[in-house]
Amino acid sequence: MKHIAVSAEHEYRVHLNVHFEGVLNEISQSHSKVFVIAPQYIVDNYHLTQFLHALDNTTLFVVPDGEHQKDISVIDQIWQGMGEAGLTRSDALVAIGGGATTDLGGFAAATWLRGVAWYAIPTTLAAMVDASVGGKTGINSHIGKNLIGSFHSPRGVHIDLRFLKTLSDRDFAAGLAEVIKVGFIRDSEILDILQSHNNVSKAHEVSEELIFRSIVVKADVVSQDFQESKLREILNYGHTFGHAIEKMSHYEIRHGEAVSVGLVFAAELSGKLLGLKEEVIELHRSILQQYDLPTSTKMPFAPILELMRSDKKARGSSLRFIGLNSIGSPHWLEDVTSDILETTYERIAE
Ligand code: GLY
Repeated sequence: MKHIAVSAEHEYRVHLNVHFEGVLNEISQSHSKVFVIAPQYIVDNYHLTQFLHALDNTTLFVVPDGEHQKDISVIDQIWQGMGEAGLTRSDALVAIGGGATTDLGGFAAATWLRGVAWYAIPTTLAAMVDASVGGKTGINSHIGKNLIGSFHSPRGVHIDLRFLKTLSDRDFAAGLAEVIKVGFIRDSEILDILQSHNNVSKAHEVSEELIFRSIVVKADVVSQDFQESKLREILNYGHTFGHAIEKMSHYEIRHGEAVSVGLVFAAELSGKLLGLKEEVIELHRSILQQYDLPTSTKMPFAPILELMRSDKKARGSSLRFIGLNSIGSPHWLEDVTSDILETTYERIAE
């Protein structure tokens, strides 16, 4: 087992390579009541109902699958569930699931009684390397993704690698998009590992190393800039464009798939504004395509631009992006004009 420390409003650790059953046992012994949220497929595939039944201080609340669990109606039902369970300040919530579940669970914990403890047990690669670590919690609204949220770090993140075995290739690849992002902004060794493990099944063989390296970077960045005053923004590389097309697809495409296109957009923008070398831009495409991740879009530019303006990374009316000078050297791009964005978009439009 490996541990990675994160320093935020409190210190916590990411525990890599645990068994979730033992973790739930320990959490249930540390609190009088534990409120567990998980989507139905996790409940069914991992016999959660029977397991939690044996721990007599837990309440299980089943959330919908996918990004729609972050709708405002769901958080309302969770608050009601926590009220009925009599969850007090010294109790805790556990979120078992993908990134949508850990974002939602963290937000429920942040808002209930102005903040109760929570623990993340991520079950997808994207949640393991990104969503469960960092303390940003939130839900979606008709205005955009994650616009309602709170900084509220978990007490612990517990990664059970057995969950990866039941992921579809598509879901695993979507998680790899966030790993690839980390490779470009900070840890080029990740890119080397991926180039020599150039399909989903080979990448599975090195998943523990990829997860560890990605979390080390995230933990370091979050520990230096928990509330995203500047440095932490580098983790948003590819995300401003990505969030826009994810929202436009009504969350039909995976977050990682949207980020994949967003990474190529950010690389092309970096080529225009920072002179990022063509070979590095092409490296984005080639690594993403190894895992059948999308690198272009059919969606029209005007609504994408509109959504990018409402992204939470926007400041005032100016559009800001994270670009790259070179691999491992991110750069903050301020006041990017819509003309430049449109000519960049043309490079990735189908
Ligand atoms: N929940 C994702 C983050 O904190 O970055």
